[in-house]
Amino acid sequence: DPTKSANGCCSLHNRLAWSPDSPAPRAGLSHSRKTCPMTTRAPLILAIESSCDETAVALYSKADGILANEVYSQIELHRQHGGVVPELAARDHLRRLPLVLQQALERAGKTLQDIELIAYTAGPGLLGALMTGAGYARALAYALGIPAIAIHHMEGHLLSPLLAEAQPEVPFVALLVSGGHTQLMAVDAPGKYRLLGQTLDDAVGEAFDKTAKLMGLPYPGGPELAALAEHGNAARFPLPRPMTNRPGMDFSFSGLKTQVRLLIEEQGNDTQTRADIAAAFQQAVIETLAIKCRRAWQETGYRDLVVAGGVSANRLLRQTLQQEAEKQRRRVYFPPLALCGDNALMIAFAAAQRYDGHDSPLDIAVQARWDLATLPPHPVAP
Ligand code: KG4
Ligand code: ZN
Repeated sequence: DPTKSANGCCSLHNRLAWSPDSPAPRAGLSHSRKTCPMTTRAPLILAIESSCDETAVALYSKADGILANEVYSQIELHRQHGGVVPELAARDHLRRLPLVLQQALERAGKTLQDIELIAYTAGPGLLGALMTGAGYARALAYALGIPAIAIHHMEGHLLSPLLAEAQPEVPFVALLVSGGHTQLMAVDAPGKYRLLGQTLDDAVGEAFDKTAKLMGLPYPGGPELAALAEHGNAARFPLPRPMTNRPGMDFSFSGLKTQVRLLIEEQGNDTQTRADIAAAFQQAVIETLAIKCRRAWQETGYRDLVVAGGVSANRLLRQTLQQEAEKQRRRVYFPPLALCGDNALMIAFAAAQRYDGHDSPLDIAVQARWDLATLPPHPVAP
């Protein structure tokens, strides 16, 4: 078989394979037999996520599924400052990474020598936090002589609903709602993303967090505000649905925050009023999202909508979009609740779709901002 190399691998490997008289290969640069895409369909992937305030490590392979998914949250560290302090986040990632990795290996019953591919979040996110994870991942891959690949954090989120039982069909629409992003994307083919609309100011999670802070709720405010809203009457305070009276799928959420500030000043701060304000805010945000999702369905003609990112854990958002999907005779998919927030499993899963046998460059290039639409499509399985 001409495609087989001397060591039973592929022709690409044959070219890259080293002989005693060629210089020793640089670890991690080319693909080795162990990770040859022609022989190894499903490498065991170690993934590292450190873009914000979660230190996360996962072990996953397409063949064996989820072996470990460890998340260490820095919430306690940042709570006393009322928000994420980037420098503290980076230092804490470095401190925790070896421990979380150890925990993941133990959970999976694996050793470092079993790992065949390392995936790490290269952006978007906090630069220092990203660099600790990327540096750690790259160094580990170098020492083990295996490849490492850089993964886009939002692609991880976007693909996380595919880790649930019910599966959307490509092409589909994706609503990404996290602390840093609010975007509607068309997923025209696997890995091929087209921006339909995005926020012009605050992201949804950010709007929840800032509004919660105004209301005196602790960090991270999103889930706290949502919990308070459960006891509130949203109809008491009519709030606008920003940018829904003009065409398009862009969003703007910073105005709502100001409206809430005025309400707090005018209406006082008793328990029921606070709950009513929280409910009115939440309802305004979620209805606005639902209106734009309806437009995205219409514009693309796609049947399926995937919702992902930290805010996709929100109960009212799930319920509202489910109802909207039924009304429109479409379908909506969410990640399992445990995978809505930041985790490394979604990074491993994205890597499993994206890995084509090639290593990312050895320099550790992380990006605070990174446009999802610039990613190449996923490789087609041979
Ligand atoms: O995706 P994520 O974990 O981190 C980023 O990549 O940003 O998203 C975190 C965001 C935070 O703003 C948090 O307040 C928000 O998601 N969030 C929620 C809920 N759970 C998390 N917002 C509203 N309702 C929730 N239940
Ligand atoms: Zn995230």
